[in-house]
Amino acid sequence: MVDSTELSVQGAEAIETGRIGTLKTANHLIGDREGLRRAWERDGYWYFKGVLDQNVIAKMRRVWIDYLQRNGLIDADVNVNRYNHSGFDGKDISVAELSRISEFSERNIHTMITEDPQINESMKSLLGADPFWLPIAEYRANPPISDPVADRFIYPHQDGFYSRGMEMKICWIPLDNIDWEVGGCAWIEGAHRGPILHDLTKPPLFPIPADVVSMEGWKSADFEPGDIVIFDLNLPHSGLTNISKDRFRLSLDIRVTEASGKVPSIGELVSLSEEQLTLRNERTGAEEIYAIDAQTYVRSADGKKREGADIPNTFKPRETVIVNSLDGRVATLVRSIH
Ligand SMILES: [Fe+2]
Repeated sequence: MVDSTELSVQGAEAIETGRIGTLKTANHLIGDREGLRRAWERDGYWYFKGVLDQNVIAKMRRVWIDYLQRNGLIDADVNVNRYNHSGFDGKDISVAELSRISEFSERNIHTMITEDPQINESMKSLLGADPFWLPIAEYRANPPISDPVADRFIYPHQDGFYSRGMEMKICWIPLDNIDWEVGGCAWIEGAHRGPILHDLTKPPLFPIPADVVSMEGWKSADFEPGDIVIFDLNLPHSGLTNISKDRFRLSLDIRVTEASGKVPSIGELVSLSEEQLTLRNERTGAEEIYAIDAQTYVRSADGKKREGADIPNTFKPRETVIVNSLDGRVATLVRSIH
């Protein structure tokens, strides 16, 4: 066990050695499409501060606090993000559950963002088009870890590897103040222009080899409610461990694209075999048929690629799925959460 003074020194060293720098903000480019396009091309992300409606974010933060109180991790009658250090023994939830809260997926908590008129107006001004939200969201309340290791990077990855060819941007939204100790997320600025770094010889998760991820250029920031980081699906990034004394890292990831561009098909699964998929598109009501081949990334709930005979039982009958297609072939088939 290392105390927090030593840990903050460790964090400061990481900043000084240049391993972690500070994200550029893009607020000055709002309304300047060409400037935003150039920043995206150069850096692979836009970091906007304080652009999301504070009331919506505060309401969401309250939902997270309620959940942590119900599970005995924050004391009742406290509206403060403060872990009571009661541990996880005998509780209904685990540390792993807090890095992907399934109850929020079931309750479609993402609609607090995607159906809010104010947020959609803000997103329209940032994207330059109406947002088309993909119903793929992850909800996190990472607790402080009691045995911090030197490496703060939880799982460096490129989302594009797991969602081949999908037209989407990833949004990372803090719901509370998230500083270096609470952890947040870090990105390798500009590396979206480089190759896919995942190791194709290591199924089913194909992790990025450790020597590749130690590359320079990692950036993060001190985040506040109302901030959003929108980033390229091929930009390598990683959650950071929470080494704070008693705060949960409250955040949400969700995917978005421009409604004016290519959008994936979302709808009820009609049939699925190893070679073919039929879905009823919820926007048009029409049935669409796609071929599945060895290149198709059929993604299970834990992100792993499913192959051959495992494909048909990856989804439940009539489950809502998302299909990204290229020339009638399925590039990615993933579970929707609504
Ligand atoms: Fe990711």
